[in-house]
Amino acid sequence: MSRSPPAVRAADRFHRALYAAVLGRLPERLAIRLGQWGLRRLPIDRLGLFRREDPRLGVALGGVRLPNPLILSSQYYDPRILRRAMGLGFGAVTTKSITRNPRPGHPPPNVVRIRTAEGPGLVNCNGFQNPGLDAYRAALAGLPHRVPLIVGAAGESAEEYAEVVRGLAPFGDLVEINISSPNTRLVYEWSTRPREVAALFAAVRRATERPVIVKVSPDFRETNETAIVPAALDAGIGIVNSGNTRRVEEPRLSQRSGGLSGPAIHAAMLDNVRRLRDRFGERLQIIATGGIDSPARALAALDAGATACAWFTGLVTRGPILARLVLDALLAARQ
Ligand SMILES: Cc1cc2nc3c(=O)[nH]c(=O)nc-3n(C[C@H](O)[C@H](O)[C@H](O)COP(=O)(O)O)c2cc1C
Repeated sequence: MSRSPPAVRAADRFHRALYAAVLGRLPERLAIRLGQWGLRRLPIDRLGLFRREDPRLGVALGGVRLPNPLILSSQYYDPRILRRAMGLGFGAVTTKSITRNPRPGHPPPNVVRIRTAEGPGLVNCNGFQNPGLDAYRAALAGLPHRVPLIVGAAGESAEEYAEVVRGLAPFGDLVEINISSPNTRLVYEWSTRPREVAALFAAVRRATERPVIVKVSPDFRETNETAIVPAALDAGIGIVNSGNTRRVEEPRLSQRSGGLSGPAIHAAMLDNVRRLRDRFGERLQIIATGGIDSPARALAALDAGATACAWFTGLVTRGPILARLVLDALLAARQ
């Protein structure tokens, strides 16, 4: 039984039909272009329908107040899309991981759909397509923060992370460092070098006073628990995003492997969040990311001990109405 008003349920049905008939059937490149065109051009954020404001939903993340605990996960860098997403019910919005120099990303095919027993997902080998630090600073300068903005950073050395963080932090409310994308060897391999990661965290911590989030990989559960998260806490970084996509072989992609996202990674994510909460208690704030595509999956992530929860694939498969559906369910659960 839905807890949302009829207009919200109608928007949910509309997107399900659109995904079944069009977005889920068009060749991926075309579907992505169409979806991004819609987010850029259609002023759907002017409809109050997508949001729900209620003081009971607010959370503090690294001392920054979010109007609710739902976060758009890292993928978009276009400020027009980020601006729109800020009006679509999210409590914070994350930019793509930005690198010092512009990157074209991996050639297509770099995103493919995948059907799993748990529901529809994606496998991507995007490879950090982004305009680079200088251009992105200029792009973010005019972006109003209707809700907090999390700026994403990645790099191949501690110096590069620190430089990107120093350059982007003034434009964000929080900073997220990505040490977990499986599509760029040097980023993914941070988790195999825990000693160097400690130096990376110290350099990033020195580069900004903003709260810092470390985004970890579900492929390195043991290392996350025994080395990465303790090193983050030692460096004064108290928020972990658990986590990124899971590395899988995928012959349809140009790189023949990529990051699996969507509901197939949700159960393991819940387990990781519970374990982190048990092990580190209240010293750690946790963002739960991985396969959240329904109110039930979002509530499960928060019940597992997450401070906030984030999704990207759910925006594609369930549409922008998902945040509102989750907010309605959250408030209903608290009554
Ligand atoms: C096409 C695509 C591009 C992504 N780019 C980034 C990125 O630049 N930085 C990052 O930290 N995560 C990136 N992600 C990972 C998502 O932010 C998220 O952590 C992951 O997809 C798992 O969540 P989900 O199942 O809700 O999608 C990307 C995911 C996809 C599908």
